Amino acid sequence: MQVEQKIDPVANNLWHVISALEEVKANIIHKTQLLGKPVSFSKTDTGIPCVWHTNPTDVAGDAVDLTSINTHLAVQYRYGYIWASLGNPTEDIFQIPEYAENDRRNIHAATVGVHVSAPRAIENFLDMGHFPYVHTNILGIEPHTEVKEYDVNISVDETEILATRCLFYQPMASAASDGGSDVEYVYRVPHPYCSVLYKSSALDESRMDVIALFVQPLDQERVRAHMMLSLLDIDNTDISIRAFQQTIFGQDKPILENQFPKRLPLDPRMETPIRADKSAITYRRWLSKKGLTYGVIPVAA
Ligand SMILES: [Fe+2]
Repeated sequence: MQVEQKIDPVANNLWHVISALEEVKANIIHKTQLLGKPVSFSKTDTGIPCVWHTNPTDVAGDAVDLTSINTHLAVQYRYGYIWASLGNPTEDIFQIPEYAENDRRNIHAATVGVHVSAPRAIENFLDMGHFPYVHTNILGIEPHTEVKEYDVNISVDETEILATRCLFYQPMASAASDGGSDVEYVYRVPHPYCSVLYKSSALDESRMDVIALFVQPLDQERVRAHMMLSLLDIDNTDISIRAFQQTIFGQDKPILENQFPKRLPLDPRMETPIRADKSAITYRRWLSKKGLTYGVIPVAA
């Protein structure tokens, strides 16, 4: 089935991650897709990213003279990633202040292609109820299946959803865990296709690890999910930390790809979020109010 590619102004004017900068070779053409449009990207010798509407002559892997490009997109480098916009962003990229704390390790954990819409990927990320069933013996375990009462709020300026007081029993919360514990979570949704999760640290009770999910909408029903970690962990290697995240996401991928419909229905009569999840209900309403239509099935007029 042909997926309709009409881009709404909200999605068009957002900043979207298209790649981790460390995965880009300088002065070499890389190609991807954003909101159904082919885009090319590279970086200069000094690491300045460059993104442009793909030219017919662009071949991935070919050398490119970046000074010759005249179809630039708006671009920024933030949190280790290249962010681009097809339109004219009205807001800056959201803040993750922890990223700048000098005792943290900021790691690009993975980029995973998933055949699902961006909002479905975000909604799954917000859902603690699937932990014991999908991430069995790692992020959850039976009989500890209850999602305890938590709070969900939308910021006064409506730019962000915040879920707090989320507690969940986890047999192995992170690569740094050595046993089961009740883990505290805070979820932020500061962007329709991005979420930032704060999770109590196994090493420092007063601070939290950060796991950010930046979902790049290739089109309405296909994404690349980029995962960034900002951790207090000093013991584990980058390789073991990445392997842990990749294991978790590898368990989510088939679940996500089996979702039907692939786009997220915003009409509460069409699909009651499973487990009547408060954060999912708030997220759907928030998307609806924003007027975002890309990757969702909007409420019929
Ligand atoms: Fe999951």
